[in-house]
This record gives sequence, structure tokens and C-alpha cells, in this order.
Amino acid sequence: KKLIIINGPNLNLLGKREPEIYGANSFEDFFKALKDKYTNIQLEYYQSNIEGELIDKLHEIGFDYDGVILNAAAYTHTSVGIGDAVKGIETPVIEVHISNVHSREEFRHVSYIAPNARGVITGFGLQSYELAIQSFL
Ligand code: DQA
Repeated sequence: KKLIIINGPNLNLLGKREPEIYGANSFEDFFKALKDKYTNIQLEYYQSNIEGELIDKLHEIGFDYDGVILNAAAYTHTSVGIGDAVKGIETPVIEVHISNVHSREEFRHVSYIAPNARGVITGFGLQSYELAIQSFL
């Protein structure tokens, strides 16, 4: 199985950014632990703060990977372009969030990705990513 985790804007600051919401661990450390645990899957990671780069990445991997685990962060709630890219590719996408977006501000209740995602996992901290991986096994 070939899976990729794609993280959107500000998620490069995980561990430093609002730790009371997003936790104290860096994504790099978490990703290393995931790779060690799931040695039988090919797991990649990409992060960008730039909307168009996220769209380019979805196009690049969207026809030959088995799954995308996408945390588009703030773009989840704003980006018709990322939503269209998710719709346009063949690879199934799971939308994930670290925090429970439904318990937060109203603008976070909207997702342009969810209508075309296989599913949505929100609110389990970094474990949200692992639950998404497990759904592909
Ligand atoms: C987030 C939730 C978004 O609303 C927010 O803009 C983020 C992170 C999460 O993982 O909880 O940057 O996607």
C-alpha cells in the first residue's frame, strides 16, 4: 500500500503552535514513529503553506497512490480549489483534523473537502492520522 499524508498551512508549526489545541509533539517525530509502526506500508509526508502547491501535490499523486490522508488545515474551510482537486483525482482522500472542528468556531464547521472525501476523522489529536491509515489496511 502506498499512502501519503498531506498537511496544509501552519501545520509545520505543530508542537509550537497553540499546544493547548494541537499538542506538544512535532509532526516530524510523530511521522517517524508512524513509519516505524507501519513498516509494511509505503508512507510519505508532504507539507505546504501554499494552496497551489497542495493542489499540485494532489494532482501529482492522485492517480497512482492508494490513499491520501489530508489535513488541509484552514484551507479546509475556504478552498474551492482544493475541494475540486480532491474531486478530480482518483485516489481516495480521508479528511483529518487534530482538533474537533465541530466544537470550535462556526467557520470551522464548513468543509470544501468533506463532500468528496471517503470519510472525515476529527478531534483525536495526532491519532486522527493513525485512524485514517488504519482505514486503508
Ligand atoms: C485543523 C483545524 C483547522 O480549523 C485549523 O485551521 C488548522 C488545523 C486541525 O487539524 O485541527 O490549522 O485542520
